[in-house]
Amino acid sequence: MLRISLSTWVKMLLLAVLTTTLLAACGGTSQPGTKATPHMDAPDGTASVYKSNCISCHGTDLQGRMGTQTNLQQVGARMSEADIVTQLQNGKGSMPPFKDRLTSEEIAGLATWLAGKK
Ligand code: HEC
Repeated sequence: MLRISLSTWVKMLLLAVLTTTLLAACGGTSQPGTKATPHMDAPDGTASVYKSNCISCHGTDLQGRMGTQTNLQQVGARMSEADIVTQLQNGKGSMPPFKDRLTSEEIAGLATWLAGKK
């Protein structure tokens, strides 16, 4: 009797742990899913320029994929809009120049948006 109830209890415990794990897993995926890219709030045109030219190094949410110097989430606190335009035109370190790939309007759109990231 004791053995049966013990093993039943163990099974229930296992089930509970499993359910909790599953629920946690679901919660874990759905929560960041709704707020996965809070920094990607650029206007449509600028967002698509960013997605085709910058995302590979700077990430889906400006988090940076090549170390902390590529995190742009607060770049506006470090650089002025004019600084950002210069860096986009000429590149720096491992970042390529974009003056031949993007129009000055596209660069200005990116710089205005990024300068607001503080
Ligand atoms: C090939 C990878 C690569 C691409 C593509 C790229 N970047 Fe960069 N970016 C870097 C690296 C590496 C740095 C850091 C450079 C350094 O300071 O040595 C950087 C730095 C920056 C900075 C300055 C960050 C700071 O705090 O100093 C800005 C702004 C920036 N990138 C914007 C952009 C934008 C906008 C695009 C798209 C038009 C872009 N980057 C495309 C690699 C890249």
